[in-house]
Amino acid sequence: MTDTEPDMKSDINSVAYGEEWSALWEQDYGTRPDTDDAVRTVADLAAGRPVLELGVGTGRLAVPLADLGLPVHGVDNSPWMLAGLRKKPGGERVTTTEGDLVTTTVPGRFGVVLLASYALFALTTQEQQIDCFRNAAAHLEPGGAFVVEVVSPQLLEADICRPVKISADEVVLLVSTAADRITQRLQTAHVYLRHDAPVKILPWDSRYAGPPEMDLMGRLAGLELSARWGGWDRRPYTAASAKHISVYTLPEGPV
Ligand SMILES: C[S@@+](CC[C@H](N)C(=O)[O-])C[C@H]1O[C@@H](n2cnc3c(N)ncnc32)[C@H](O)[C@@H]1O
Repeated sequence: MTDTEPDMKSDINSVAYGEEWSALWEQDYGTRPDTDDAVRTVADLAAGRPVLELGVGTGRLAVPLADLGLPVHGVDNSPWMLAGLRKKPGGERVTTTEGDLVTTTVPGRFGVVLLASYALFALTTQEQQIDCFRNAAAHLEPGGAFVVEVVSPQLLEADICRPVKISADEVVLLVSTAADRITQRLQTAHVYLRHDAPVKILPWDSRYAGPPEMDLMGRLAGLELSARWGGWDRRPYTAASAKHISVYTLPEGPV
């Protein structure tokens, strides 16, 4: 390690978004079929107002939002993910702050605060998730929206080992441990098997929460649920939806 390299953080999820996983994340998840729909939906909700993305990562959403002319500020605690953002064409248009999305405050008020890609569940206690809602609400202008994308907990798979990528020279497996139904904790890991490299295991710790619990977190933060979709194309949310996008609005007048 040199003076210019960032320190490795100690908890499991910080390691997950360390140098190695940041590069693999960009390769495996940096491009997704629903990204354009996500950008369009967030831009519609922003309606020209500034956007704050918590857990901005490599700017998969933030960069195209900035390309649309929206002022975009991103917060992330992984210097490696932020370095990936800065390397992208147009990445310089996104203002960034390195810090924890639960506690970091940035100047200004935003029309949309965005928390995409299940990052809410990377906060492994209920307290942290409540504080994340509160931090998001504190950055909203009246009428602004906190937009959260999470996997549907009812479809979370525990005790599995399944391939997510199979090619002649690489197999990637997703494994998960038994879910703890009391604490709502689930540990998963991506296992990389490559012909020319040692086996790599990248663990991820999560705490899932169902829609009613999230709605309560919203209410504790002074927010009201205004929409819930089963995808970024704004399809209806049903019990079979793999994920949901929930929109929590800060009321215009006194609550
Ligand atoms: C799954 S990536 C998503 C990146 C981006 N939002 C997207 O959709 O492409 C989650 C991001 O959240 C960041 N993250 C996770 N926990 C965080 C925390 N407590 N504080 C700040 N950033 C966090 C990670 O470093 C990572 O960049």
